[in-house]
Amino acid sequence: MTITGLHEQNSADVVVDSFRDTPDERLKTVLSSLVEHLHAFVKDVEPTHLEWEQAIAFLTAVGHMCDDTRQEFVLLSDVLGVSMLVDAINNRRSETATDTTVLGPFHMVSSPARELGANISLDAVGEPCVFAGQVRSVDGTPLAGARVDVWQANGAGFYDVQQPDLQPERNLRGLFVADHDGRFWLRTVVPRFYPIPDDGPVGKLLAATKRHPNRPAHIHVIAEADGHAPVTTHVFVEDSPYLDSDTVFGVKESLIRPVVLVDDPRRADQYEVANPFQLIEFDVILDPVAS
Ligand code: BEZ
Ligand code: FE
Repeated sequence: MTITGLHEQNSADVVVDSFRDTPDERLKTVLSSLVEHLHAFVKDVEPTHLEWEQAIAFLTAVGHMCDDTRQEFVLLSDVLGVSMLVDAINNRRSETATDTTVLGPFHMVSSPARELGANISLDAVGEPCVFAGQVRSVDGTPLAGARVDVWQANGAGFYDVQQPDLQPERNLRGLFVADHDGRFWLRTVVPRFYPIPDDGPVGKLLAATKRHPNRPAHIHVIAEADGHAPVTTHVFVEDSPYLDSDTVFGVKESLIRPVVLVDDPRRADQYEVANPFQLIEFDVILDPVAS
């Protein structure tokens, strides 16, 4: 019997070979690649035993910070840019379609169905504004009946689920059905930038690397229409702090929109707000899927 043994030169090969009988080809590919990259990383960094123990302790702390309402592993993936990379790989779209970005952890409750024009700001914390747009296919056809799911932080930078004792349930969330012309509109408040939850190991990692935990002001949108690829995205508020340093790398220039002061009594009437009013406009363009 020959014992190959695992040493510095052959470590990845020996472990990859141990997966040779894996019946699931995808699992075999993923594990083999993981081992090759992991061993290359360890050879590059050459950790001491103490450093390796610290790495294991860090990952253990990340695991301990996960439950039904907190997902520290997702935050870790976010701040390392992996969430955005996975998003990019899975959303190779046409040039015209609306860009995607991260879902984030605050879509943990479903948005309530609301009528077009509804006011989703139930706590009235923030400056009132109208959020409106049109959902279209890439060829310009309006997508009547498109579903538009919207959620956001309030004007103080907190989601309802972060302040269950302060904010009404389902504050700043709504599921809207676009009209015959693909248009949607609702009343809300201008969102504010906010820090991602930074009281756990991911926050410590950010502090140790002198990174701030903030995300620029944004409204989350998921838009879906029959026969089209859904889009999970955000609208970012022009001039918000941190647009150039989002801690989860989620900003794309194509998604930035201004808050415009509109002085037009006819449009104010249409949105059932006092004139003048603030408006964020965001059209969503979806790619058709082959049927
Ligand atoms: C968010 O936008 O809700 C979010 C995204 C990633 C991490 C934390 C929050
Ligand atoms: Fe968010």
